[in-house]
Amino acid sequence: MPKQTHPDGDGIREQAIDLLFAALAKDERGETCGAVASQGDSGSHYSNVWTRDNVSPMLFFLRYDPAIVGLFLDALIRRQSRSRRTFGLIPIGFSPRYDVVDYGGEEAIGAVHSVDSTLWFIILLGLFVETTADIDWLRARRGAFEAALGLLTGPRFDPLPLMAAPESVTEIDRPAGLYGYPLQLQVLLCLALRWAARLLVRLDLDLELATWCRLEAEAIQSWINRWYWLDHQVVHERERLPGEEHGQDNPNPFNIDYSRIRPAVDRLPPDTGYLGGTLRTRHLDTRLWPFPNCLAATAGILSSPRAEALLSGISDHWEQLIGPMPVAICWPSLSGPDFEILMDGDVLARPGNYHNGAHWPHILWALVSACLANGRGELATDALAVAVHGLPPTWGEHYDHDGSLGMNARTRQTWSIAGYLVADEAVRFGIAEFWQARLSPPGGWLAESSSTASQVVREEGA
Ligand code: GLC
Repeated sequence: MPKQTHPDGDGIREQAIDLLFAALAKDERGETCGAVASQGDSGSHYSNVWTRDNVSPMLFFLRYDPAIVGLFLDALIRRQSRSRRTFGLIPIGFSPRYDVVDYGGEEAIGAVHSVDSTLWFIILLGLFVETTADIDWLRARRGAFEAALGLLTGPRFDPLPLMAAPESVTEIDRPAGLYGYPLQLQVLLCLALRWAARLLVRLDLDLELATWCRLEAEAIQSWINRWYWLDHQVVHERERLPGEEHGQDNPNPFNIDYSRIRPAVDRLPPDTGYLGGTLRTRHLDTRLWPFPNCLAATAGILSSPRAEALLSGISDHWEQLIGPMPVAICWPSLSGPDFEILMDGDVLARPGNYHNGAHWPHILWALVSACLANGRGELATDALAVAVHGLPPTWGEHYDHDGSLGMNARTRQTWSIAGYLVADEAVRFGIAEFWQARLSPPGGWLAESSSTASQVVREEGA
């Protein structure tokens, strides 16, 4: 359980703000185009502007300098794919100086492709328009919005509302056993569809599509709650379900053998639970991945009792999940045959390292937002205090469980800096003030839209 008190973080906040502004890059047109991933590693692909690494920086700038967010979104739009196979795709990142654009992981290690970039793009677009109320700005970028949305609403190879994907489509961009229907992708898809519905209504565009997006987001939310959630009761109830059934009425659609899940749930204190990391035929990943879990708890994808159960579990496993640095990317890490098979024995990701259990400070903003949105302010403050003690002066990309900088980890990593700043803002000003960090369209989210359009969506979506 956490015990620390909140020190005065003002000096650190000033340093972080300076570093964040220093990370902003200009492109060949001389225009700000986003923040580079790290200032401690010039010359590698960490000097590129990565889309996902810019999410927390942009959450910060939304409050203080929204114009920077607009410039970043425009930089992405200029680089949005126009080729037939990937039309509308937002790149993983790009080089500000040479205009090298990374659509499929060519600039990273291994040909990883990113789905999260396009989803974050739609979410940031929604947050930006909500903040500036500049519908004309949005109207001028309608084509880019529709092209990105097309990747979410077009035909796919299966009938589920969930989106199937191979490995490495989010920030876990090396083998981690997260293929199938990875949780993070479903959470981001749900949020992107909520925002897309709102933007379509704001633009008085395709109201039928807006209704579809909203209903689809609700369907994803319900699948997440039904099939990813793990706690004693759920597993106990499902242990006797048949695992070899088929057909539409199958009460166990993925044919999961819940007796194999039991040991993972047995280590949970009563009244706690969490969402598993991925789902696929016969498999539910039982590692706890705090980032997507906290996003779900922040954005109301999880009901309040479940969000409370999640945060109680995090508090009960404080030593493993927070320890010397918030937040472990997953717990427990994989070892033995699981590590060899699911993570391909990745030398960078040995147990406790990198995507296999290292502590990644960028997750702090999501954890703090989840705590504040669900009445656990004391946990938020304690987690922030750990970061204040542990982060400067390295602002590392990830840390080992003893608090030392992780193997191959970069320093002055932008999303570690911004993750801290957004968390600090939320604690200082309260989640309601800093509502952007809630990530979802604000309460009564169709009410302010143009009257007939919102009426149609409200009635059809009811
Ligand atoms: C690493 C991380 C990835 C991040 C990138 C840039 O490849 O795995 O999540 O976006 O570095 O910081």
